[in-house]
Amino acid sequence: MLKILFAPLQGYTTGIYRKAHAEIFGGVDAYYAPFLRIENGKPREKDLRDLENAHAECSGNADSKCAENAKGNGASYKVVPQIIANSINEFQALTDALLQKGFTEIDFNMGCPFPMQVNRHRGAGLLNDTQTVQAIMDEIKKFSSAANETASVKFSVKMRLGQETPDEAFALLPILNDTPLAHITLHPRLGKQQYKGALDFSSFERFYSECKHPLVYNGDITSVSQIHEMERRYPKLAGIMIGRGLLARPSLAAEYKQTSHLNSATTSQDFLGKILQMHQIIFENACHTYQGDSQILSHIQSFWEYLEPNIPKKTFKKIKKAGKLNEYIEAISMLQTECKASN
Ligand SMILES: Cc1cc2nc3c(=O)[nH]c(=O)nc-3n(C[C@H](O)[C@H](O)[C@H](O)COP(=O)(O)O)c2cc1C
Repeated sequence: MLKILFAPLQGYTTGIYRKAHAEIFGGVDAYYAPFLRIENGKPREKDLRDLENAHAECSGNADSKCAENAKGNGASYKVVPQIIANSINEFQALTDALLQKGFTEIDFNMGCPFPMQVNRHRGAGLLNDTQTVQAIMDEIKKFSSAANETASVKFSVKMRLGQETPDEAFALLPILNDTPLAHITLHPRLGKQQYKGALDFSSFERFYSECKHPLVYNGDITSVSQIHEMERRYPKLAGIMIGRGLLARPSLAAEYKQTSHLNSATTSQDFLGKILQMHQIIFENACHTYQGDSQILSHIQSFWEYLEPNIPKKTFKKIKKAGKLNEYIEAISMLQTECKASN
């Protein structure tokens, strides 16, 4: 059975979301947190606070292993933080901040296509710079040297084929192959494609055969049958990372693992009932964590975006348009009534 990793999605898979997902749906082997970045010369406080949610449920911080495992309803789930950096200095500052928090596994982002990051030479903007990648990989090597007391820290890389051309990934591959990485996750698109357009499976296959690390596939997976098909086509694959497919169908990983009673034949009411349970946890947590209607709403409204096809049109509009918390609560109770009425 393949490992299923929840992809990091800025603005969606927050600490509150991850916890609620683990509690209600689960089936995910690890949740990758959205990237931590440098802002005004230091690791961004807001991102660090969000990661603290991963600790909040831990009983005692003495055990560093605890830091990578949060608990949802008693069941522990794994959270891996991710960093995005354009230089060895940024890499070191971000890594230090996470090590201080007790994390023992870190993912390095070389795939983000957002112009704000690419123009700053981060994410996919780093893929054509073998020199900087080499310097960062040399830094990762230091963590695995026997003399280093943080030798237990593991690094993985999440990347695309390139910003402009797949040649970029193949120029980097010997450097990556020569670095002790836990795995590489590859999204077989170019940065300039952002999240749309054709996936380049022929480059993926070449990367799959030349990569010496466990390889995780990422891109456009939305069904259990697609996961089985990937398993069949690529028997050496170490896992599948899923983003938007899990936002749209949070039961997908559990369906694949067969740990959920939900499956492709599940009625929409049954599915919506679970979604409402997950929402309740997020809503309560958001109200507890944030202040003021707009802060709470901006956190909670994104939860519904990818779920639109499952929700009556009029109710979805009401949820999205709510500008005040009481309007939002009204829209949700409308959805609850609709869900009950169709049962
Ligand atoms: C809104 C949004 C935010 C994202 N944020 C991150 C991020 O913080 N770190 C990252 O590595 N990838 C990020 N991604 C990319 C996803 O992790 C994933 O690679 C991409 O969505 C393709 O996988 P999917 O087709 O399964 O969604 C983001 C994607 C979207 C659409």
